[in-house]
Amino acid sequence: MAGGGDGIGIDDDGRVVFVPGAIPGDTVAVEVVKAKKRFANARLVEVIDGAAGRQEPPCPHVPDGCGGCNWQHATPETQSQLRRKIVTDSLERIGRLAPELVNSVVEAGPSLDPNGYRTTVRAIVSEGRAGYRKAESHEPVLVNSCLVAHPLAEQILTEGRFGSASEVMVRVGANTGERMVLVSPSADQVQVPEDVLVVGQDELDAGAKAFIHETIGDQRFRISAQSFFQCRPDGAKVLTDLANEMLGEIEGPLLDAYCGVGLFGSLCGRGRTITGVELNAHAVDDAKVNLPKDSTLTVAAFGDWTASDFNAVIADPARAGLGADDAAVLAATNASVIVLVSCDPAALGRDAGLLIGHGYQLERTVVVDMFGHTSHIECVSRFTKI
Ligand SMILES: C[S@@+](CC[C@H](N)C(=O)[O-])C[C@H]1O[C@@H](n2cnc3c(N)ncnc32)[C@H](O)[C@@H]1O
Repeated sequence: MAGGGDGIGIDDDGRVVFVPGAIPGDTVAVEVVKAKKRFANARLVEVIDGAAGRQEPPCPHVPDGCGGCNWQHATPETQSQLRRKIVTDSLERIGRLAPELVNSVVEAGPSLDPNGYRTTVRAIVSEGRAGYRKAESHEPVLVNSCLVAHPLAEQILTEGRFGSASEVMVRVGANTGERMVLVSPSADQVQVPEDVLVVGQDELDAGAKAFIHETIGDQRFRISAQSFFQCRPDGAKVLTDLANEMLGEIEGPLLDAYCGVGLFGSLCGRGRTITGVELNAHAVDDAKVNLPKDSTLTVAAFGDWTASDFNAVIADPARAGLGADDAAVLAATNASVIVLVSCDPAALGRDAGLLIGHGYQLERTVVVDMFGHTSHIECVSRFTKI
């Protein structure tokens, strides 16, 4: 299984062949659609003998070519196993960690419902209706249901009409019931239920503010249209519970690196003073509301921030991960414990290798099934200073 979620076969010339829609154990007939010297991309033509972990895709839009979820052909249990395997491979191959160590540190997180979970959904608009792109294509697939969208978001996606817009982002608070839709480029002739806050990208660009609220545990969060927020509140609770567990008994001020709207600082920073660093000014405005008033917040690229000493750090970078520069800044905090939240296993592998190079050891990596029916993977890892 490749990191991106394609099955891998080897052809007669020893070339790696990537096959979307295949899982390990399948015997499939494929047609090669692009061949390079060392690898090829193929289209699955027929499943001749399906692996035990295969299932009929539960969503009716998969046969239409919907590219929204790339792993509906694997049972949820198989998806979990494959995610752990991808993480293990990445720590070994990219991070160059010993297989025995990797096997002893990687574990599965608590199970989360693979259906009806997404509270933020991005969609394209075609003829006024929301849909997704076909896999490997720009063509739209209009949907009258979405297996992974939270029901509050699904209703807006399937029943809403969005005029001449090209894209929408639907965001709902599963626990507050608040809903918004951000329409690009502008929100003309939009028809959605009355309770939904509608805002155009052009209005935001002109300085308008639009936000909803969500609660995670006992904490209420303000989340603006342009701020990142985790794709599901139950998943956010799992991530913050794990981060709390991994911080352990370490005391003192907490650095919340890439803090977004202040999720980790709010739920893991109780009793500590919190410093947040975040690039997106809208998210920092939210974090000012969500975090305790004595928190220090800086709008900056993390690599440009001047590190000072911290005992405890939580870092939750974007998909690209830390990379060498940001790993060096993180290590310069001299933190005893770094909790690293990674949403890309290849980046986790590389970042683990970098932090180890800075004198840390990897103690635990928990793979969380945040993104059911897709090959997206979220991990929470504990690194301690040797
Ligand atoms: C995966 S999100 C995590 C946000 C927050 N920790 C949460 O869980 O809601 C990554 C965040 O990093 C921010 N970001 C991206 N590149 C950055 C950089 N170079 N320096 C600081 N923050 C950055 C994004 O704006 C985003 O809010």
